Amino acid sequence: MISYGKQFIDQSDIDAVVKVLKGDWLTQGPIVQKFENDLKSYFGAKYCCAVSNGTAALHLTGLALGWKPGDIVITSPITFLASANCIVYAGATPDFVDIDPLTYIIDPNLVEDKVKTYQSQGKKIKAVIGVDYAGHPCDWKALREIADKYDLQLVNDNCHAMGASYFDDKQYAVKYADVITQSYHPVKHITTGEGGAILTNDPLIDEKIRRLSTHGMTKDSNVLENNDGPWYYEMHEVGYNYRITDFQCALGSSQLKKLDLFVEKRRVIATNYDQMFADIDTFTIPKSRNLMDHAYHLYPLQINFEELNLTKSEFFEKMGKVRINLQVHYIPVHLQPFYKKRYGFNVGDYPLAEKFYDRAVSIPIYPSLTDAEVEKVVENIIDFVELH
Ligand SMILES: Cc1ncc(COP(=O)(O)O)c(C=O)c1O
Repeated sequence: MISYGKQFIDQSDIDAVVKVLKGDWLTQGPIVQKFENDLKSYFGAKYCCAVSNGTAALHLTGLALGWKPGDIVITSPITFLASANCIVYAGATPDFVDIDPLTYIIDPNLVEDKVKTYQSQGKKIKAVIGVDYAGHPCDWKALREIADKYDLQLVNDNCHAMGASYFDDKQYAVKYADVITQSYHPVKHITTGEGGAILTNDPLIDEKIRRLSTHGMTKDSNVLENNDGPWYYEMHEVGYNYRITDFQCALGSSQLKKLDLFVEKRRVIATNYDQMFADIDTFTIPKSRNLMDHAYHLYPLQINFEELNLTKSEFFEKMGKVRINLQVHYIPVHLQPFYKKRYGFNVGDYPLAEKFYDRAVSIPIYPSLTDAEVEKVVENIIDFVELH
């Protein structure tokens, strides 16, 4: 079966994990800190807290940024549920801004329009979560300008873009956003099985995130009300157990060494697809704006099914028969029944995201996809178009 995404694990990854399994620390040990240090060096962040998954990273981000009921936080409708759910977890109000139809990431002009619309109603947006969708960085310069102008917090849900460059800089994320979140789910660029991290240059945000990731416990003598002895800790606010294990972090550090190679392989596959599909009228290939180097977590191909007089389901069925497993990223979040019912969103609210959803198909892209498999994918997709 050729899937839309898949991890790449080699002997060095296995050896790294086994070494930790044979040691003293399975969790809360030194390898967690090592992974955090490796992430800090690669992404150029001063602080990093590794956690159990990307959703936990987003949850903790909202709490550390102090989101609360009445706050409005906006994100893109073309993202995984977790980017919006974290707003709901904090009791804040989610809202969305439509995408740039060329790159499928949040459109900064529309972000500013939204800020002004709220302003005219006497309301203020608290934060913007930009999602580097599919591996294409958001227009972070524009988003930072808006954040500074209107005093907004800026979060980068960076789960798809590890290894991407923005103005030739792989360490762009932490230079623009206040907080960065990542996920190391197996389909992502690097994996720890389940896992995630929060990167920031702000020591207070990092401190709060660390505390909340482990039940809200503290041993900081500056805040303790009592001190009964060396075992003593206090809890001043409720936190969670969002810890990651040492053996997962061993895998993470080993994977991180290969990140550039993984991204390179994905780019080669994407270039192949670009060349094969560029001239097909009913297709739109994913594009990058100048000076943004796509990391291709996904290759969202848009197919004009309407013009082909076919449905996306028929396409999925046909590809499934030849054992090619596709996906769609994403069903626009505002169209989920929960968001419609609780917040009143509706079909037509974000037309560019909805049109994208009608046409988008994530076709296979991952480092171990062979040339022969790429050829099989291309042939079957082209067959599908030509036979109709
Ligand atoms: C954009 C985005 N944000 C957040 C997440 C959540 O990460 P995790 O699955 O590690 O909880 C994902 C993962 O699917 C994602 O793609």
